[in-house]
Amino acid sequence: MSAFEKLKEELKANPKRWLVTGAAGFIGSNLVENLLKLDQEVVGLDNFSTGYRKNLDAIKPAVNAAQWSRFAFIEGDIRLMNICREGCTGADYVLHQAALGSVPRSVKDPNTSNESNVSGFLNMIVAARDADVKQFVYASSSSVYGDHPDLPKVENKIGNVLSPYAATKKFNEIYADIFARTYNFNPIGLRYFNVFGPRQDPDGAYAAVIPKWVAAILRNEQVGIFGDGETSRDFCYVLNVVQANLLAAITQNEEARNQVYNVAVGDRTTLNELYGHILDGLRKRDSKIPEQKPEYKDFRVGDVRHSLADVSKAKTLLGYEPTHTISQGLELALDWYKDNA
Ligand SMILES: NC(=O)c1ccc[n+]([C@@H]2O[C@H](COP(=O)([O-])OP(=O)(O)OC[C@H]3O[C@@H](n4cnc5c(N)ncnc54)[C@H](O)[C@@H]3O)[C@@H](O)[C@H]2O)c1
Repeated sequence: MSAFEKLKEELKANPKRWLVTGAAGFIGSNLVENLLKLDQEVVGLDNFSTGYRKNLDAIKPAVNAAQWSRFAFIEGDIRLMNICREGCTGADYVLHQAALGSVPRSVKDPNTSNESNVSGFLNMIVAARDADVKQFVYASSSSVYGDHPDLPKVENKIGNVLSPYAATKKFNEIYADIFARTYNFNPIGLRYFNVFGPRQDPDGAYAAVIPKWVAAILRNEQVGIFGDGETSRDFCYVLNVVQANLLAAITQNEEARNQVYNVAVGDRTTLNELYGHILDGLRKRDSKIPEQKPEYKDFRVGDVRHSLADVSKAKTLLGYEPTHTISQGLELALDWYKDNA
């Protein structure tokens, strides 16, 4: 039995109380759903800045009535200390996802990204420390690798960050380490690599590539690719991210705490390949969707050229075993986008 299967059995037998920040967002709502399915008590916190009430509403039919009754929601902003303290009250574990994502958003407006991603993070970690939670797990990002040339990316080799967004995530890691040294509070950071899956927002200027392209193809619009399409990423289905969060929260391995981990699959896909997979997958579902070529545009400021994770640290210290490859994840995500378009 995998470490994750074992963990799920333990949690079902001995439910805990979790705070998920950013609960109305893409990853947060998937965490909430999967925790409720394990009969956990879950508090969600979100200010709906980039998240949606419909993401929370979608969880209700996915769980049973008893599981749904174990969910409570706080509409609030992590830039306010009292909200963070309210969320942490009675929590065993905190999964901190709330942040303003997107490199271009941060390039356009670095102050606002900093307020939620750095000041909000500091509020959350202080509140979690004061509430004596057992583990604080937070969302970092592969963008922390910046211009470091090595591939695959290994946790202890990072370069200069290339955007305000990446800087905010690096500050999270610095604060986490300071909290370990100063207060013996040992957070765990998860460097997510291009996560995708159900409930990822396809709309708006800062949408991620997979939902944006799926939505464009379904609307018969031409997809725009920044650069020559040979930019590559380690695309990670959201259930792998859920697994990593739960393993990190519950780990009994002292060595595993006050660490950062890559969370990905360990497999690289170029944007040209991704486009092919998505178009083929959608045309398989609807033969009326035409074959179409993407439009190549200028490279985007702050984007890194290649990204591929070495996930051996998470495997060794946390027992992480990604269950979904990009193809398996895309099959599930495309079904969801088709049904929810
Ligand atoms: N999706 C990815 O590929 C990816 C990659 C690397 C890191 N991350 C990180 O993972 C986390 C979740 O990302 P996501 O893709 O689910 O994004 P998302 O935008 O769907 O979710 C973020 C949520 O945080 C909420 N939020 C933002 N600022 C807040 C504030 N001040 N107070 C309360 N709530 C606030 C938003 O309303 C939203 O619901 C973020 O920290 C993001 O930086 C995501």
